Amino acid sequence: MLKLLQETYRDKKVFLTGHTGFKGSWLAFILNHLGAQVKGYSLPPNQNQTLYELIKVSTYTDSVLADILDKKRLETELLNFQPDFVFHLAAQSLVIESYAEPALTYETNVMGTVNLLDSLRKYDKPCQVIAVTTDKVYENIEQRYAYNENDKLGGFDPYSSSKAACEIAVSSFRQSFFNPKKYDLHQKSVSSARSGNVIGGGDRSDNRIIPDLIRAIEKNESLEIRNPTSIRPWQHLLDPLSGYLLLGANMKKNPRNFAGAYNFGPTEDVDLSVEELVKRAHSIMGKGDYFTSELSNDRHEASLLHLDVTKAQNQLKWHPKLSADEAIRLTIEWYRESNSDPFSVTFKQIVEYFNM
Ligand SMILES: NC(=O)c1ccc[n+]([C@@H]2O[C@H](COP(=O)([O-])OP(=O)(O)OC[C@H]3O[C@@H](n4cnc5c(N)ncnc54)[C@H](O)[C@@H]3O)[C@@H](O)[C@H]2O)c1
Repeated sequence: MLKLLQETYRDKKVFLTGHTGFKGSWLAFILNHLGAQVKGYSLPPNQNQTLYELIKVSTYTDSVLADILDKKRLETELLNFQPDFVFHLAAQSLVIESYAEPALTYETNVMGTVNLLDSLRKYDKPCQVIAVTTDKVYENIEQRYAYNENDKLGGFDPYSSSKAACEIAVSSFRQSFFNPKKYDLHQKSVSSARSGNVIGGGDRSDNRIIPDLIRAIEKNESLEIRNPTSIRPWQHLLDPLSGYLLLGANMKKNPRNFAGAYNFGPTEDVDLSVEELVKRAHSIMGKGDYFTSELSNDRHEASLLHLDVTKAQNQLKWHPKLSADEAIRLTIEWYRESNSDPFSVTFKQIVEYFNM
């Protein structure tokens, strides 16, 4: 995989939205490692000690700190850069925050994506575009079932439904303006990538289980777990990120055939309850304790989500490499080792992953 990714991205221009966030910082780091020239476009980090700062993303990207809702600025930065690839990760990314700020969540996730796609209509060079959404875009039937890309979209909470709406906008732009059948006219290939909850080093978000766990240990406090019995397909973020990059590589080779939606989730039976994840993380750390509490009804969160990744496996030859235990171990190791040198541990984990 590494050879293909190096051949695809070396000396190519990549416009990356959300580069100040958790997944975006890792992706910027990987793209730099692959030899790409990256321009990031995001709001400034909203906390201290973010991964963006720890691994010095601004030193190897052209970092634009601006709002994706500022259409004029976004369009100017995009068109001036002339990208070969666009990875769109900028989003209001938290379910709980979407209950507090529903309108902002829809604006950012739907209109942010529309602004980006609309700007690309004015761009006359070839470009592969990947919009990152989530497993939560599917209408959740709350049963043990693996959702495939043809399943109905939906979403109970504002975050999930805003991402489902984002998928519909991507699909509409693909059909209306970037139709694969008319590729020679517009030269754009547009896809979406759906992956589930990820864990990994450097996440500082509130209300996500690993950052909450690390903060509780740092403060010597007991961790509160909401919805302890919720089952999630826990995945290390390097698995879906490698999927996004592989999708981009295939779109580059064959832009007509690979424009579409792709699921990226774990294949083996690695579903764990939130409580079990916490127990395993505490055991690797050798410390930490917790107590459980249930969410109230007005903060509904989908409880069982699983993705069918047959399409990504068959078409992209993408396979998740890390089990849930390996994902937890890598994540905890990152936090342990990053105290002295976050850049080196990030580099080490990326090199190990791509050489697996
Ligand atoms: N982390 C996960 O477990 C997970 C799971 C599924 C999907 N996703 C999706 O992956 C993407 C990245 O997630 P993440 O975990 O890195 O999120 P994050 O919250 O850490 O980062 C979000 C990024 O979006 C940027 N952003 C937000 N509003 C913006 C605006 N108005 N203008 C410009 N930039 C803006 C932020 O500045 C930040 O760079 C998101 O689209 C998210 O929905 C994440």
